[in-house]
Amino acid sequence: MGFPKEFLWGAATASAQIEGGWDKDGRTPSVWDVLPADKIENGDSPREGCNHYEHWREDVDIIKRLGLKAYRFSISWSRVLPRRGEVNPKGLQFYNDLVDALLEAGVEPMVTLFHWDLPVWVAEFGGWDSGEAAIAFLEYVKVVVDALSDRVRYWFTFNEPQCFVTDVTNEGRDHDVKRAGRNVMLAHGRAVEVIRTYAHKSPLVGFAPMGMCAAPVPGVMDEALAKEMTFSQAAGAMGMSWWLDPIILGVIPEPLKDTLSEDDIKTICQPHDFFAGNCYFAVNYLKRPGRENLLAFPGMPKSATGWPVTPACLYWFTKFCWERYRLPVIITENGFANTDFIMLDGKVHDPQREDYIRRVLADLEKAIDEGVPVFGYLHWSLLDNFEWTHGFDIRFGLVYVDYKTQKRTIKDSALFYANVIKTNGGCLTELK
Ligand code: BGC
Repeated sequence: MGFPKEFLWGAATASAQIEGGWDKDGRTPSVWDVLPADKIENGDSPREGCNHYEHWREDVDIIKRLGLKAYRFSISWSRVLPRRGEVNPKGLQFYNDLVDALLEAGVEPMVTLFHWDLPVWVAEFGGWDSGEAAIAFLEYVKVVVDALSDRVRYWFTFNEPQCFVTDVTNEGRDHDVKRAGRNVMLAHGRAVEVIRTYAHKSPLVGFAPMGMCAAPVPGVMDEALAKEMTFSQAAGAMGMSWWLDPIILGVIPEPLKDTLSEDDIKTICQPHDFFAGNCYFAVNYLKRPGRENLLAFPGMPKSATGWPVTPACLYWFTKFCWERYRLPVIITENGFANTDFIMLDGKVHDPQREDYIRRVLADLEKAIDEGVPVFGYLHWSLLDNFEWTHGFDIRFGLVYVDYKTQKRTIKDSALFYANVIKTNGGCLTELK
C-alpha cells in the first residue's frame, strides 16, 4: 500500500525560532525576546534568529527546490498585534506575502496560531493564568483568520501547551498549571469556533500537542500496557490525554475533575478535522531505579538533545492515537538534533539525520499499511534555528544556517528527504 498519493510531505518551523526581526516594522517583543541572558545557553537570544523575516523569499525557494508539499509555520502574535486592539498592517503583510509565495510554489500553507511566543503585553496582564489572555487571543485569531483564511485551509490553534503551561521559562514565571491549562483549553475551543465562523474557505482545524508515546519493550511492557502508559494521567499536564480527552472526546480526566465543568466542556470540545501530534521518540513512564526510560541501555543511540533514537515511535504513536481518537493523523513535528557543521568540501553531511528519517518513515509506512489513516508528515525543522533554552547550540534543520552571515546550506538529509518526497516514499526501502 505505502504512502497515499496525496500524502502531505512537509516541514515545520515556528515564528520565535526563525523569524528574528524582533523590533522590525512595528513588532513588539514576545516573552522570549526579553528573557534574562542566563536563562538561555550562551546567553543566546531569538531577536535575530535566522532572520527569516528578511530571508523568507530565499527560504520559500528552498522549500520549492526540496519539493515540499506542505509547510507549517506559526504567526508571531506581537507582529500582528503589537498592542491590544492595534493591528499592524506590515506584520500582516509579511504573512500575506509568505502565504502567496507558498501557494505560488505549489505548497500548502499550514498555520499555527500560538507556538509559545506570548506578547509581552499579554504577559503583563497575567499571561495564560488570566482569562483575559484567552479573550485577547480570540481577538488576534479573528484578525489572522480574516486576513489569511481565503488562502489558508489548515489551522492549528496551539503548539504543545504541555510545555508552555508547565515550564517556567516560557513566561519567566510559575503557572497555576490547572488554571492556565483550563484557560488554554477554553481559548482553543473558542478559537475553533472563531475559525469555523469567519474562515473564507472551508477550514481544517486541529491542535498540535506534544506526542508522548510509550512503545512496547519485549519482556517488560506489552502493547496493552504501552498504550495505557501513552494515555496515562500519571504524566499530568505533560501527558497527552490530560489535554486531548477533554478537547477531542469531551471527557474530563480524573485530575481535572476539580477544574473543568461540564459547561466548560461544551466550549472546549469542538469537532476536529484531524489528529495532529509532535513526536520525536518513545518514552516510558514506568520508572526503574536509576533509569528514567526503560528503553535505555548503555551506549544507546541518541541525538544531540540526548533523546533516544526509537524509530518505532511513529508507528506506535499514530496507531495508539488513531485507536483512541479516531481522527485522521498528521505528524506535525518529528526530527533529529545533530551537531552539524560545514565540512571541508563545503557541504553538510548528516548521515545520522538521514538514517533517522529513513527509519521513522519506514515505521510510519508500516502503520499506514496496517490501516492507520496518516495523511501527512512535517519534518522539524526546515532550518536550523533557535532551540529555546538551548539557544543555537543544537541544530534540527534540514538546512544549515550560519547565524553570522545568514547563509543557508542544504544538508545531505534535505536532499535525501527531497528524494523521499519525489518517490512518495519509494526510496525508503532501497537499503532493505
Ligand atoms: C517544539 C519545537 C522544538 C522541538 C525540538 C517541539 O517540542 O514544538 O518548538 O524546537 O520540539 O525541541
